[in-house]
Amino acid sequence: MRLGILGATGWLGGALAARLVAGGWPEARLVLANRSGPRGFPLAEWTDAAAVARADVVVVAVRPEDFPTPGFAPDGLVISFATVWTLDKLRALAPRARIVRAMPNSGAPQGASYTPWVGDVGPGDAELVMKLLSAMGEVVRLTSEDQLDYMAALPGSGMAYPALMAQAMLTHARAFGLPEAVAQRAVQAVVVQAASGLLGRMGDLDAVLDLYRGYRGVTAAGIAAAAPGMAQAMSAALEAAHAKAVDLGR
Ligand SMILES: NC(=O)c1ccc[n+]([C@@H]2O[C@H](COP(=O)([O-])OP(=O)(O)OC[C@H]3O[C@@H](n4cnc5c(N)ncnc54)[C@H](OP(=O)(O)O)[C@@H]3O)[C@@H](O)[C@H]2O)c1
Repeated sequence: MRLGILGATGWLGGALAARLVAGGWPEARLVLANRSGPRGFPLAEWTDAAAVARADVVVVAVRPEDFPTPGFAPDGLVISFATVWTLDKLRALAPRARIVRAMPNSGAPQGASYTPWVGDVGPGDAELVMKLLSAMGEVVRLTSEDQLDYMAALPGSGMAYPALMAQAMLTHARAFGLPEAVAQRAVQAVVVQAASGLLGRMGDLDAVLDLYRGYRGVTAAGIAAAAPGMAQAMSAALEAAHAKAVDLGR
């Protein structure tokens, strides 16, 4: 079986190729295309987009505005990462193909993606999709495309919201007068390092916050001040992002 990747040097296409090869997928069974010319994977076949689309399995990892790529007429399994391109639009474009949509996130190069996917395919295709996507991390099959749009807004955002929180903290710490290096290091300690302690604990968030509140001290005062605004900000962000994902698909 040959796996074609349209957008093989992009964030996600490149991550998928690298993680598959690192996990034992024979490089010679990759068929790759990008715009700027071959980069890496010397044993793979670098070719044009139309030839990639004829592979047994085709991954669409180009930006929505660069799709459809010239000569896109697959008749095998297609796994599309492209937002905007709904299952209906993809089916209209490639009526002979079996099509799924997947939404990896920016943790893919580290094997830390949480990748939802959706598509009306049989058990054999589903198993193959799970196997291929799991090279980038954990995979979950969803039951509706609307759930996928929501996932585009949530895990699809990758490190964007933590980055926004870090930026807000950094702005405040700078205004307070902390030296730049100290401010940066302090924010990293919270947003990246301490937050890793939450891994696997999403069911315990009340208990985690209650633990901090229980000290009735510095952090408890901060939580009380931030909680209402934080809930409102995240709700507004996810509403807007989900609405955008739905709107883009129209
Ligand atoms: N990044 C994310 O976290 C994320 C999350 C969810 C969904 N997505 C979706 O996933 C898709 C890929 O995103 P990305 O961030 O990986 O994009 P990216 O880093 O911008 O990579 C795009 C790739 O497409 C290639 N390309 C562009 N036009 C092409 C053409 N006509 N033929 C062949 N290759 C072409 C580019 O080639 P060159 O390198 O030569 O320019 C590059 O390799 C997008 O549709 C995006 O909406 C991304």
